[in-house]
Amino acid sequence: MSASIDSVAISRAFLTPERPLDRWHSHYARWKLAHDPLYPGVLPLLRDDPHPLLDLGCGIGLLAHVLRGAGATQPYKGVDFDATKIVRARAAAAHRHLHDVAFDTADLSLGVPAHRGSVSILDMLQYLPEPLQSNVVSGAIACLVPGARLVIRTGLEDSSTRSRITDVVDRIGHRIGWMRSAPQRYPRREVLTEMLESAGLEVAWQSHLGRNVYNNWLVSARRPD
Ligand SMILES: C[S@@+](CC[C@H](N)C(=O)[O-])C[C@H]1O[C@@H](n2cnc3c(N)ncnc32)[C@H](O)[C@@H]1O
Repeated sequence: MSASIDSVAISRAFLTPERPLDRWHSHYARWKLAHDPLYPGVLPLLRDDPHPLLDLGCGIGLLAHVLRGAGATQPYKGVDFDATKIVRARAAAAHRHLHDVAFDTADLSLGVPAHRGSVSILDMLQYLPEPLQSNVVSGAIACLVPGARLVIRTGLEDSSTRSRITDVVDRIGHRIGWMRSAPQRYPRREVLTEMLESAGLEVAWQSHLGRNVYNNWLVSARRPD
């Protein structure tokens, strides 16, 4: 999907020689990197950003691989409440010797870990009920130093068929055990916009539909220097 994203090398890092039949994360990584416009969309926003990055709901840490593969050098820390994913994220990052990359378990419903720099929230807000979504977004805004950026990709709640399909697919992800929690509610654009703009951030929205069925949007919110 993107010349600078080596989906084959990244997916190989998720193979476990001691469990040769355990290929789920590797197949997932390869499929995701090949078909989802997420990382090609996020890369131009974060590749040249010098601020330490906190990746909220990082999953198996694909963003770290994509950033390092594109030459980005900012310190990266990913957090997720799924301890199994964090174990796989650490192993794959170590396998590829990713520099200055760390992962930790954290339940974001309890708050955003202390951080000063940029923040990414990719495809995770819908797993929190609305008041906790706002807590995570305001916690992320509080992390931003001048020049740093909050990058959010999310499905949005609206009346489109894509919105309904996004919900159904996320529920299937929960049923098959890929997601620990079921989606609660997708953010509404006006709520996110109000939070970001009232914090004085420079906000840019891009529709991020790609060749898929989701109602995804990419938001970049930068704190002015
Ligand atoms: C759809 S995945 C996205 C993973 C990654 N950001 C990406 O885009 O590839 C959503 C992630 O959010 C995590 N998550 C959901 N609720 C969470 C919570 N309360 N605290 C921390 N992580 C959470 C899930 O474990 C999952 O890894």
